[in-house]
Amino acid sequence: MTDKYYLKQEDASDNGIELTVRKPIQGPPAIDVTKLYRDQGLFTYDPGFMSTASCESNITYIDGEAGILEYRGYPIEQLAAEADYVEVAYLLLYGELPNSTQLQEFDEIITHHTMLNENLKDFFGGFHYDAHPMAIMVGVVGSLSAFYHDSLDINNPRHREISAHRLIAKMPTIAAASYKHNVSEPIIYPSNDLSYCANLLQMMFATPCESYQPHPIAVQAMNLLFILHADHEQNASTSTVRLAGSSQANPFACIAAGIASLWGPAHGGANEAVLNMLTEIGDVSNIDHYIDKAKDKKDSFRLMGFGHRVYKNFDPRANILREMSKKVLEELADSNNPTFELALRLEEIALKDDYFLERKLYPNVDFYSGIIYRALNIPNNMFTVMFAIARTVGWVSHWMEMMSDPKQRIGRPRQVYMGPSRRDFIPLKNRS
Ligand code: SDX
Repeated sequence: MTDKYYLKQEDASDNGIELTVRKPIQGPPAIDVTKLYRDQGLFTYDPGFMSTASCESNITYIDGEAGILEYRGYPIEQLAAEADYVEVAYLLLYGELPNSTQLQEFDEIITHHTMLNENLKDFFGGFHYDAHPMAIMVGVVGSLSAFYHDSLDINNPRHREISAHRLIAKMPTIAAASYKHNVSEPIIYPSNDLSYCANLLQMMFATPCESYQPHPIAVQAMNLLFILHADHEQNASTSTVRLAGSSQANPFACIAAGIASLWGPAHGGANEAVLNMLTEIGDVSNIDHYIDKAKDKKDSFRLMGFGHRVYKNFDPRANILREMSKKVLEELADSNNPTFELALRLEEIALKDDYFLERKLYPNVDFYSGIIYRALNIPNNMFTVMFAIARTVGWVSHWMEMMSDPKQRIGRPRQVYMGPSRRDFIPLKNRS
């Protein structure tokens, strides 16, 4: 593999400047341009970061062409089949699979951080009853830094670890409380004798009048969904968390920024948008009309749940979720669920259409996740909240990785300025 590249102006007589290459453990090499502006007065230009590596990381590896996703080297298919979400959270956070003692201790720590400060309950009450739960979650998570002054020294590794544990543990409680506010039911406290996923379902669907025993298939489906959504390299929300963290903002503020970024329908908001789209399509007979809309450049409509910046063959998570959605619908909902049938037909028709094949637009993780959440009686506006719960361990793992790097510095991209050249101020009386 070439170790050096040379950059020279078209008419230059010399060899130009030498650019070194950073070689990865796996994946594409990267040309190191860190000194390009200092030495040559040149910027690189890459809006959308199509060809930019923003950092080095040891956490997650994706090969978009081969449909490979690995957490700390372990293939997502094996983790999905064998692991528990808390076990995967430990792996992402600490870099190795836990032994039974480590797993038990970690599970205990997370379980005993699931309660919220009692004063936070009033916070939920301040929102209008129909506030979108993502709006509530952004606000509540950002406010956590007002409660944890004991662990805000971001230069203290132990403070960073406690904050990571608190965030992983409290996200389900905040999510469930947001849902309860939407349905005007009392907030249900976490139960320490339930697993992470069972606890979330219990906090959402139990009431003071009767307890709720989550269905084993529902717990299994949530566990799988959370593993598949736990991390994904330098996606938009993770990059948001890293950039916010680079200014040394506190971890709760950084994760609130990540939640805000995830909310967009081009990113984590797509799962909710998929179900809304399937509802709008309504019937198989309308699929061709909507596929034409998706292809029409004058129409802003896109086929939600299709396409990915990195995966250009298939999203391995979508394949796993397609199988799980069939199982959940057979066990928990009507197996001939019209929405699922519509999704299967839409996928089948789109994947025969040249427009999608030429652009390598395949179903992504969000295409099937919403169908499973619906089968678990989770409302559409809670789908991205579920994504945020699962992704929190990825966000905090990247934040921990960045903050423990002694070379860490504030992220501050430059630009190609295309605005007006220097001009003098015109007093108001002289303006036309
Ligand atoms: C997630 O980054 C991650 O890892 C994200 C994620 C994670 O785990 O963190 O994987 C989670 O966000 C999955 C993506 C969920 N979003 C959606 O399903 C929304 C629909 N998808 C698109 O918005 C789009 O595909 C993106 C945002 C996912 C990717 O956008 P890109 O890489 O910038 O691609 P693009 O917009 O430049 O599209 C390339 C071409 C364009 O056509 P041309 O200009 O070449 O003619 O494909 C077209 C686009 O118009 N296109 C679509 C389309 N997606 C892309 N056309 C119709 N429907 C679509 N869904």
